[in-house]
Amino acid sequence: MENEKLSNLFEEYLLNNLPASKTFHPSFENALQNMLKAGGKRFRPMLLLSVVESINPLLFKNALSVALAIEFLHTYSLIHDDLPAMDNADLRRGHPTLHKSFDEVTAILVGDALNTHSFNLIAHAPFSSDIKIELIKTLSSDGGIDGMIIGQAIDCYFENQTLELERLKFLHIHKTAKLIASSLKMGGIIVGLDSKAIEELYNFGIDIGLLFQIQDDIIDETSTEEEAGKTTANDGAKNSFVNLLGLSGAIKSANELAQKCENRLNNFDLSIKTNLLKTLQIYLYRHTK
Ligand code: IPE
Ligand code: IPE
Ligand code: MG
Ligand code: MG
Ligand code: MG
Repeated sequence: MENEKLSNLFEEYLLNNLPASKTFHPSFENALQNMLKAGGKRFRPMLLLSVVESINPLLFKNALSVALAIEFLHTYSLIHDDLPAMDNADLRRGHPTLHKSFDEVTAILVGDALNTHSFNLIAHAPFSSDIKIELIKTLSSDGGIDGMIIGQAIDCYFENQTLELERLKFLHIHKTAKLIASSLKMGGIIVGLDSKAIEELYNFGIDIGLLFQIQDDIIDETSTEEEAGKTTANDGAKNSFVNLLGLSGAIKSANELAQKCENRLNNFDLSIKTNLLKTLQIYLYRHTK
């Protein structure tokens, strides 16, 4: 299936499966759906779906709800990331951030809801209980205290304190790369890859995720808000790659990492390689080159 078709099918699935909350609350359901409908690159679901599509296309439809679960968890992380207590950003996905359109209470609770609902989606996915437990273990770990959460905690705690390169990498691997690696791994779990193949995908995902975050730090430095669709020039106090290495140093290290990732891609089976390359070219490599 062509990449564009894959992405259209996911988008259609997302719009047909937005979280619902039908109560007498006048605006909560609207708020719950707001940031999901606002767009986003859908990079993580596309990684999962690319793996499934390349190994067992018959499972593609069944995998959609798991891909959606990852997008819910990621969207929650962005909503909370933008809160005044964290990055205090006004613009996200080309729209005012949720706490701006609604209020902080709503943004906190919508984030909480998307987080918990992502696991509900996996629990109801059309796979065996064994597979679903593996998926839940993976997402809760990489999106939780062994991954995104500790990364965000370190990111915020160490504002205005310079971390050395190894610690800075630890920060970004946890904050961003683990969820990206998890998306590939969850694709591998769904199609029943053996543990060695899953580990290879995961390790590759860590490098892809680091590259993604270096590029994100470059975007903060070089893009306007209109271009990025989100608040930029907002990393002044952060341990960003740009702040540590300088803009040209960050670009250089992104290009080196992109090359390393392309080389590593050659170790994968032809179908995974072809599918992932298509996905990565759309979302990743074009920004560095
Ligand atoms: C932004 O993620 C936060 C990072 C981890 C760098 P994305 O760049 O994937 O944001 P959306 O989903 O496209 O809005
Ligand atoms: C956030 O990183 C990563 C998350 C886990 C949400 P950033 O703070 O750099 O993301 P942006 O630049 O606001 O999208
Ligand atoms: Mg942040
Ligand atoms: Mg931010
Ligand atoms: Mg950023």
